[in-house]
Amino acid sequence: MTGRDEPIVLGIETSCDETGVGIVRGHTLLADTIASSMEEHARYGGVVPEVASRAHLEAMTPTVESALAKAGLRFSDIDAVAVTAGPGLAGALLVGVAAAKAYALGLGVPLYGVNHLAAHVAVDQLEHGPLPKPAIALLVSGGHSSLLLVPDVAQEVVSLGSTVDDAAGEAFDKVARVLGLPFPGGPHIDRAAREGSGAAVAFPRGKYDDGTLDFSFSGLKTAVARWVEARQAAGETVSVPDVAASFQEAVVDVLTRKALQACARHGVEDLLIGGGVAANSRLRALAQERCDAAGVRLRVPRPGLCTDNGAMVAALGSELVAAGVAPSTLEIPADSSLPITAVHV
Ligand code: KG4
Ligand code: ZN
Repeated sequence: MTGRDEPIVLGIETSCDETGVGIVRGHTLLADTIASSMEEHARYGGVVPEVASRAHLEAMTPTVESALAKAGLRFSDIDAVAVTAGPGLAGALLVGVAAAKAYALGLGVPLYGVNHLAAHVAVDQLEHGPLPKPAIALLVSGGHSSLLLVPDVAQEVVSLGSTVDDAAGEAFDKVARVLGLPFPGGPHIDRAAREGSGAAVAFPRGKYDDGTLDFSFSGLKTAVARWVEARQAAGETVSVPDVAASFQEAVVDVLTRKALQACARHGVEDLLIGGGVAANSRLRALAQERCDAAGVRLRVPRPGLCTDNGAMVAALGSELVAAGVAPSTLEIPADSSLPITAVHV
């Protein structure tokens, strides 16, 4: 099937604090609507699971209706429903999975429970077309930092390495807190860093030369906190832009170095970066520089498609439909620790 004959897939994402609803036809994005409960969490400095679940419940129906309106479609136009089945916050996932089952059952269309991480990879196809097979994917978000070998995003994703402690986004959020910047910290550090120097402070780069494709950001986070405390105790003023830029440089140096090592080791010439931290301007710039030097083609979705959204779930659902993968049953659970190897459930 091609063009207007391709099935229309509704995607529902509720793994964290964003209620995302996306609608795609093949690789064409028709609508991407998001309701976020971030403001309700900001004063706690992190996402509160119960608050997120309640917000999903309230936002679900209006967000689905607004996506349909944006796409100029009716419920009867939907050919399949895809939903994030995991990993994520258990209660938050449950709201999306229950809603998706109800929509699929009510509309009499197939249901596809999909992996949130694989969806972060699949979303790029809405912007840059079919994903080369195989590709290496660097997935960096608030909950995950992984290097993946992706022979086929609809069928097989292999884990090459992941963080042994904090996720990259988590490190951004924690360091932002140390610097007195609001939650979530990533975008604020990104902005502050533009006024500073990445070479101002030589912060440690965890697991830089350990030969693995794993990451570690906990030591870096602690080093930044100690550095700031020591300067403050000595009565010195701390340059937030310099610390932000130096911390950010340490993170993106390790991420891009290991991503290119993964490409070299597996003889893969296409690198995709996804997840919330892929919105980082310095990560995008350094990755481009190092990919150009190594002869690797780089794909990074636009920032709005990097952070959690419903379009990514619809994109992976659409890929599963096109690959003729059997739909999920209405009994699928929400699995908070769904492994990356399970692309669909
Ligand atoms: O993928 P995502 O929206 O949600 C998860 O699945 O976790 O990622 C959220 C994370 C947060 O930690 C946030 O601080 C980080 O992505 N983030 C950024 C930027 N924008 C969002 N980190 C660095 N630079 C950014 N521009
Ligand atoms: Zn995510």
